[in-house]
Amino acid sequence: MAEIVIVPSPADAGALVADEIVRLIAERPDTVLGLATGSTPLPVYEALRSRVEGLDVSRVRGFALDEYVGIDPNHPESYRSVITREVVEPLGLNPDLIHTPNGALETISHAGEDYERAIAEAGGIDLQILGIGTSGHIGFNEPGSSFASRTRVKTLIEQTRKDNARFFDRVEDVPMHCITQGLGTILGAKHLVLLAFGEGKAAAVAGAVEGPVTSSLPGSAIQLHPHVTVVVDEAAASQLAHADYYRYVAANKPAWQGL
Ligand code: GLP
Repeated sequence: MAEIVIVPSPADAGALVADEIVRLIAERPDTVLGLATGSTPLPVYEALRSRVEGLDVSRVRGFALDEYVGIDPNHPESYRSVITREVVEPLGLNPDLIHTPNGALETISHAGEDYERAIAEAGGIDLQILGIGTSGHIGFNEPGSSFASRTRVKTLIEQTRKDNARFFDRVEDVPMHCITQGLGTILGAKHLVLLAFGEGKAAAVAGAVEGPVTSSLPGSAIQLHPHVTVVVDEAAASQLAHADYYRYVAANKPAWQGL
């Protein structure tokens, strides 16, 4: 079972996850982070800013979950730009060591394989940060995605385009296609940390954590992974049937157990 941690606020979640990332980097300076975009991971990146002062982050490596296909990498809402703006620059990471799937049309036919190779050559992802979409997607693996899938091109469902329209001028400007790590790729990371905040995520969280394991709710793939931490606020936890048990587990967590 995943460990479910219910925290009072997104800032508390950010602090908890940032502490674990700092611990990893201090232990192994070339740690490989799996980076997510969207609003959800922002408190983690925010909390990391003060924590990395004095820490050698020059060798930290990173792989983003996904990218839009056909978007100019310099577009402010390309995930390359978002990761540069929110993670690489504020934390002082080496941009050459931080990868995003290549959404360029000219090379898209082999971009997925190239990305998989790069992750494998890095020795795999140590800690993968995940958000969850209202459709239950992780990365951009929309409902129906195979649990064995690797990095590949997907078509976004209309709801996801609507959800992401807030980053663009119009919903029509949200690209139709994306390239995303597959569920199989994500399950290959050593530790998955899924964050979710707000009532709008409550159904997706309950489905992912307590519902049947089904490709209809891609986030439920986390139930197949041996080391998962789900960090949610009260609103995102509001549809969890066993919330009291998760609180009881957290209150009685042995001191020697890490995140
Ligand atoms: C996008 C991203 C996902 C993210 C999801 C939720 O679709 N590809 O990785 O988890 O949005 O976004 P937010 O965190 O903004 O709610």
